Amino acid sequence: MDKKIKVAVMGATGAVGQVFMWMLAHHPWFEPVYVIASASRVGLKYATTVHWVMPFEMPPHIKETVIQEFNIEAMKKAGVQIVFSALPSEVANEAEPQLREHGFYVFSNAASMRYEPNVPILIPEANLDQLDLIEQQGYPEKGFVITNANCSTTGLAMAVAPLVKYGIKEIMMHSYQSVSGAGYPGLSSFDITDNCIPFIKGEEEKIEKEVKKILEISCDVNCYTVRVPVMFGHLEAVWLDLEEDVSLDQIKADWESFTQVKDLPSSAEQPVEYNPAPAFPQPKYAFWGNPSGMVVYTGRLKKRGNKVGFLLLVNNVVKGAAGGSIQNAEAFVKRYGLL
Ligand SMILES: NC(=O)c1ccc[n+]([C@@H]2O[C@H](COP(=O)([O-])OP(=O)(O)OC[C@H]3O[C@@H](n4cnc5c(N)ncnc54)[C@H](OP(=O)(O)O)[C@@H]3O)[C@@H](O)[C@H]2O)c1
Repeated sequence: MDKKIKVAVMGATGAVGQVFMWMLAHHPWFEPVYVIASASRVGLKYATTVHWVMPFEMPPHIKETVIQEFNIEAMKKAGVQIVFSALPSEVANEAEPQLREHGFYVFSNAASMRYEPNVPILIPEANLDQLDLIEQQGYPEKGFVITNANCSTTGLAMAVAPLVKYGIKEIMMHSYQSVSGAGYPGLSSFDITDNCIPFIKGEEEKIEKEVKKILEISCDVNCYTVRVPVMFGHLEAVWLDLEEDVSLDQIKADWESFTQVKDLPSSAEQPVEYNPAPAFPQPKYAFWGNPSGMVVYTGRLKKRGNKVGFLLLVNNVVKGAAGGSIQNAEAFVKRYGLL
């Protein structure tokens, strides 16, 4: 691509926003030209105002980026076509419909529009055909919103998608979710240090609803979600009750051959990777893979009759958030073109 597509990042100083800034810093198709955080930061340079929480260095050339106010006319003037949103849901709820109304293509991490029937919760490997829903929002005459799933749902949907063909009677999932999932500053260190919190508001309901919309299945989905004192990466213990009796070798083969969405810069070569090591996966591997953080790792596979159990690890801020959104935008550009 000779000319890059101009993009905006909303919520660029938060946990997800920082990953957007990192992944877009050297993106071959997209160039961030308009970067937004809350009003108190407007006019400040990114490096001086952000509290950088990522486990890698801030890309040098984003340091001088100046935070702008949320101003639709200014965004148009800057040539923005795609908007990446890492806004809190209550803020996104107002901003995203306005952006769509003004013709922007919005890729959002917020939950506020996920459940609208014509808004896809897109995971390119799992449900690329749902990209068509943007036409029901009025594209190409109008803008649209494409969401990505809740971070835990993304990991679950990725691992279950290649197994849907066996008939899913029930999904049971217990999660061990990192503190970055609550954003920055997130939880009080008094509450989470040396502790686990067995309640994450709204999380179980989101997972149960979203996995069915993404995979177009109607089985029971029963979850417990627990916050654990880990920085990045959500671990999930999953049991699937399948209609068919499937061998473990077959399940491993299904993960190994699971769709690679080719020719997208942020697609992993093998999006779901199984590893037979006895203590795998662990959150400390959250940034493994190529691109870093975009692979869902599975392990500890076992079987009881038609029930299949495994553990998975998803990087909640990369594949489960900003990286997933960027990959969604790439999938849109690849299918519909833009420049
Ligand atoms: N964290 C995850 O793992 C994860 C995963 C999937 C989806 N999500 C979703 O992604 C969104 C962002 O999550 P997060 O964890 O990054 O949250 P966060 O750390 O709290 O960051 C929120 C960002 O939004 C900005 N913001 C807040 N109010 C604003 C306003 N009125 N106008 C403009 N900017 C405003 C904040 O700017 P200031 O820094 O200036 O306040 C900050 O940059 C949420 O909807 C969340 O549910 C998060």
